[in-house]
Amino acid sequence: MIILDNVHKNYHCNGENLAVVKSANMHIKQGELVSVVGRSGSGKSTLLNLIGCLDTVSTGSIIINKTDVANMDGNEMAELRSQQIGFVFQAFNLIARSNAIKNVEIPMIYQGIKASERVRRAERILEKLNMLDRKYHYPNQLSGGQQQRVAIARALVNEPNLILADEPTGALDVKNARDIMAVFRSLANENKTVVIVTHDQEIAKMSDRVFTMIDGNLVEE
Ligand SMILES: Nc1ncnc2c1ncn2[C@@H]1O[C@H](COP(=O)(O)OP(=O)(O)OP(=O)(O)O)[C@@H](O)[C@H]1O
Ligand SMILES: [Mg+2]
Repeated sequence: MIILDNVHKNYHCNGENLAVVKSANMHIKQGELVSVVGRSGSGKSTLLNLIGCLDTVSTGSIIINKTDVANMDGNEMAELRSQQIGFVFQAFNLIARSNAIKNVEIPMIYQGIKASERVRRAERILEKLNMLDRKYHYPNQLSGGQQQRVAIARALVNEPNLILADEPTGALDVKNARDIMAVFRSLANENKTVVIVTHDQEIAKMSDRVFTMIDGNLVEE
């Protein structure tokens, strides 16, 4: 599903050349739940953004579902993102002026899916995440755990094979964090691939494999 071969990423910033990811190799199978841990600034989010085609490698290659993303242009990357990848973030990133169901509909609006079909699909996915009874609530009328479940519903609504989550439990208490991990586990059981970045060793232990980013080098535990 995902192959990283000697991925290197450097940024040119304020006249300085910064090697953020020095060497990353990874081979992740479909249906695996994988964590990446590491200290702040070690390059975890950068790595996730590379896998998610939000950024491009300096050298090395990333293969997602048999496609080498290094040779893609911006449009092709955007298409791959919208069709194959669902993103989940620490701060949920819901649209404050839209209620839960409208938030879940957003990726389908970009896909040009008609309103009645959007509502049908959004309701089905909210039900799966146990959030249907809150569909007309706005983000500020939901708890943190509920907001993250709506954000996950939004990430899933186009049925991606790959879920990428950057500190998805970082803003949640222990119980909500475990519940969110249970959601990721059930997605992996449905043969979706899930990669999460986390500071939390307890959360990392709930995954199938743990990688550690040490100063730009990726090491499997
Ligand atoms: N666009 C950019 N331009 C220049 N430097 C960058 C850029 N993005 C990230 N960096 C640098 O790369 C390093 C790694 O950043 P990254 O966000 O990947 O760390 P992280 O492991 O996710 O940290 P945290 O746990 O705090 O989220 C940092 O030193 C950061 O300053
Ligand atoms: Mg980060």
